[in-house]
Amino acid sequence: MVQTRKSIRFLLNDHVVDLDTVAASDTLLDFLRLQQRLCGSKEGCAEGDCGACTVLVGRLADGDLKYETVNSCIRFVGSLDACHVVTVEHLRGCDGALHPVQQAMVDMHGSQCGFCTPGIVMSLYALWMANARPSNADIETALQGNLCRCTGYEAIIRAALAAGSAGGQDRDVLISERDTVVAALQGLTDGSRVAMGHGDDRFFVPASVDDLADIRLENPTSVIVAGATDVGLWVNKHMRSIGPAVFISHLDELHRIEETETGVTIGACVTYTEFQDAVATHFPQIAGYWNRIGGEQVRNMGTVGGNVANGSPIGDTPPVLIALGASLTLRNGTQQRTVPVENFFIDYGEQDREVGDFVEALHIPFPGEDYSFAAYKVSKRRDEDISSVAAAFRVRIADGKVADAVIAYGGMAATPKRATAVEGLLTGKAWTAQTITDAQAGFAEDFSPIGDWRASAEYRALVARKLLARFHLETTQGVENTSLRREAVA
Ligand SMILES: Cc1cc2nc3c(=O)[nH]c(=O)nc-3n(C[C@H](O)[C@H](O)[C@H](O)COP(=O)(O)OP(=O)(O)OC[C@H]3O[C@@H](n4cnc5c(N)ncnc54)[C@H](O)[C@@H]3O)c2cc1C
Ligand code: FES
Ligand code: FES
Repeated sequence: MVQTRKSIRFLLNDHVVDLDTVAASDTLLDFLRLQQRLCGSKEGCAEGDCGACTVLVGRLADGDLKYETVNSCIRFVGSLDACHVVTVEHLRGCDGALHPVQQAMVDMHGSQCGFCTPGIVMSLYALWMANARPSNADIETALQGNLCRCTGYEAIIRAALAAGSAGGQDRDVLISERDTVVAALQGLTDGSRVAMGHGDDRFFVPASVDDLADIRLENPTSVIVAGATDVGLWVNKHMRSIGPAVFISHLDELHRIEETETGVTIGACVTYTEFQDAVATHFPQIAGYWNRIGGEQVRNMGTVGGNVANGSPIGDTPPVLIALGASLTLRNGTQQRTVPVENFFIDYGEQDREVGDFVEALHIPFPGEDYSFAAYKVSKRRDEDISSVAAAFRVRIADGKVADAVIAYGGMAATPKRATAVEGLLTGKAWTAQTITDAQAGFAEDFSPIGDWRASAEYRALVARKLLARFHLETTQGVENTSLRREAVA
C-alpha cells in the first residue's frame, strides 16, 4: 500500500515550497504572480501560444536532472511535485551583474516594450545552457514558441549569438549548484501518492503506473493530465473544472523509449522533445514535420500519448502513426489490451476506450526499408500552429508498380482517417503522374471535409490532392529537386 501525502512540494528558485492548499486547476503562472509576487513571468495569451510566461522546470529523470522551458500559464501546480521551477527572477550573472543572456539582449537592443522579454530571455537561457554555439536555425527553433510583436526577431537572434560567444556556462548558477539541487529534489521524492483538494478541486499524483491504475479504478471518470497542453486550455479558455484530475507527467515508467529490431515502444508520457532523437534515427523523413508541432515549450510538455488520447481530428501524430501501423496499449486496472491507432478513432469525440482506460504505451513499427514514407503539415503559420490538413504516406513500389499503400489524413474528417479509396486506386498501378491524377478522384469518396476558420472545405480538398502529388514528385524526383513552389496547380 503506497503512502499518501496531502501537500505538493517543489523547489522554487532557491527555496522549497510546501503547499497544502492547491486546487487541480491552479496554474503555475497564477501561483508565481498572485501568490509569490514573482511578476517577471507575464501573461500574454494564457493558452501556450506566446511564450511570455516561459519558465524552466527541472525534473529528475532516472537520476539525471534536466531542465526544460515550459509555458507556466498551462502548467498546473499539482504536476510540479519534486520539480525545480526556475523563473526569470533567479537569473543572474556573477557578482550581481546581468546574466550574459540579459546583457546580450541589452547590448543588441533585443527589447522594445519588454512584454515578451522575460519569456524570450528564459528560452534563450535554456538554449545558452544546452548549446554554447547555436546556429541561427537553433535559435529560431528555440524561439518558435515566443512571440514578439514589436522588436522584431533580428535583434533577438543577434543577442542569442552574442550570449553564446560570451561563454560562462560553467559558472552558471544552475550548473554550479546542480549537485545541491539534485540532493534537494531527491529529498522531496518520497515515493508517496499525493491526494489533495475537495470536490471539483480534487487531484492525485500517483506514486507509480500501478498506483495510477488503482486511482483510475477508484475514480474511473477522473481527467488524466499529461503535458496539459490541451487540458490547460480547458481551464483557461473554457473555464472548465478538471477535478478529480490525475497528473501523470512525472511517471518515469511512462517516459521509456524501447527499441527492437522492428519498431519502438514508447510510454504514453514521452514528449515530442524526448522522441526527437528516435525520430532523427528511425524516422528521419519526418524530422521537419516533428519540428512543426507547437513551439519548443509545447514540444517539451506535450506528449504523443496525449495527442492520440485527445481524439482530435487535427492532431499531428495520428496520421503518421496510422500510416506506420502503430498501436496503443490501453490499460484498465491490471488488464491491458492493444488497439491499432487506426481503429481507436471511432467518431468525433468518440474513441475505442472503456471508462477508466488510460493509454499506457504506443508501439510504432519502423517504416520498412522498401517503403517510401513522408508526412506533411499545412497550416496558416509555419510555427506554433495547428494543421489545416496533415497527411502521411507509406508506399511500397515494386517493379515500378504500387505494391502497398497506406495513406492517412488529419483535418479531412471527424477523425484522423485512412484514404482507402485513394489507396485502392493506387494499388497495382504504375507509379506515374497519370496514376496520381486518376487516384486523386478517390478523395471525394474518402472525405467530405468541413470548412472552418482554419481552412475552407474546398481548400482542404485541394490540399489533400496536392499532397499526394507532392509525395509522388518527391519519391520520383528527389526531395531536393522538388518543392511546393514548383508544383503545378490542378
Ligand atoms: C500553443 C499550442 C500549440 C500546439 N500545437 C500543436 C501542433 O502543432 N500539433 C498538434 O497535434 N497539437 C498541437 N497542440 C495540442 C497539444 O499540444 C497536443 O495535442 C499534445 O500532444 C497533447 O498532449 P498533452 O500531453 O499535453 O495532453 P494533455 O493536455 O495532458 O491531455 C490531452 C487529452 O488526452 C488525455 N490524456 C492524456 N494522456 C493520457 C493517457 N496516457 N491516457 C488517457 N488519456 C490521456 C487527457 O485526459 C486529455 O483528454 C498545441 C497546443 C498548444 C497549447
Ligand atoms: S501566456 Fe502566452 S504562452 Fe503563457
Ligand atoms: S518587445 Fe514588445 S512584444 Fe517583444
